[in-house]
Amino acid sequence: MEKTVRIYDSPEELAEAFARELASSFRNATEKGSVFTVALSGGSTPSALYSLLAEKYADSVNWKYIHFFWGDERCVPPDDPESNYGMAFDKFLGRIDIPPGNIHRIAGEGIPSVEALRYSGEILLNTRSFNGLPVFNHFILGMGEDGHIVSIFPSNREMFHSDKICDVAVHPVTGQKRITVTGKVINNSESVTFLVTGKSKAETVERIFMKDNGFPASDVMPYHGRLAWLLDKEAASKISGNGQC
Ligand code: 6PG
Repeated sequence: MEKTVRIYDSPEELAEAFARELASSFRNATEKGSVFTVALSGGSTPSALYSLLAEKYADSVNWKYIHFFWGDERCVPPDDPESNYGMAFDKFLGRIDIPPGNIHRIAGEGIPSVEALRYSGEILLNTRSFNGLPVFNHFILGMGEDGHIVSIFPSNREMFHSDKICDVAVHPVTGQKRITVTGKVINNSESVTFLVTGKSKAETVERIFMKDNGFPASDVMPYHGRLAWLLDKEAASKISGNGQC
């Protein structure tokens, strides 16, 4: 597994750099006429990235080759302020010329157990497979202060190693139901990128980089793909510049 760590002066600089990198990946795929599949992160960190992709790259990418999925979704309607789809659509997907069929929304308003199964099928139908699991070209992850990724928390960490493609999780504090992609699918991706910013995450970043495997984020080790940690200076304040501690 190829792992890189890049540290940026600010969240804005990180978003600019990653938007540029993603747009380049999209263009490379479209030049080859091949579909490119992306699993988007939820939470607030990617908001600046999504806005930049719409503002700077809307007209320089042929979006008909790009398919967007989500790594997880809160069990709320799409117009709920909590909706990961709603945020990405408002900031990004609703502002580009992309075929509606390329946007693979998790129906947060559905019956969770039924939607987890349905979405598993939607992923399988719209991605290639390797070793019996779907392969995303790029899987974008955030990380919580407790080291959770998508909706795999320390309290349901076993879900990371589930044989299911998607499962129903429960937020340990709010009790909110979530639908989440599981860890084996994340690790089957061609490329996985963490976007982590802010001082509140610095200690967890340090512990993960010191090989503390006490977190779901510690389990993200792509089987055959690339792993990148994109951090701002605050989130990286307890690790050295080359990602060592
Ligand atoms: C979600 C996300 C979750 C998120 C982290 C970080 O649905 O909330 O998928 O895993 O990435 O909680 O969230 P922030 O970016 O808001 O810190």
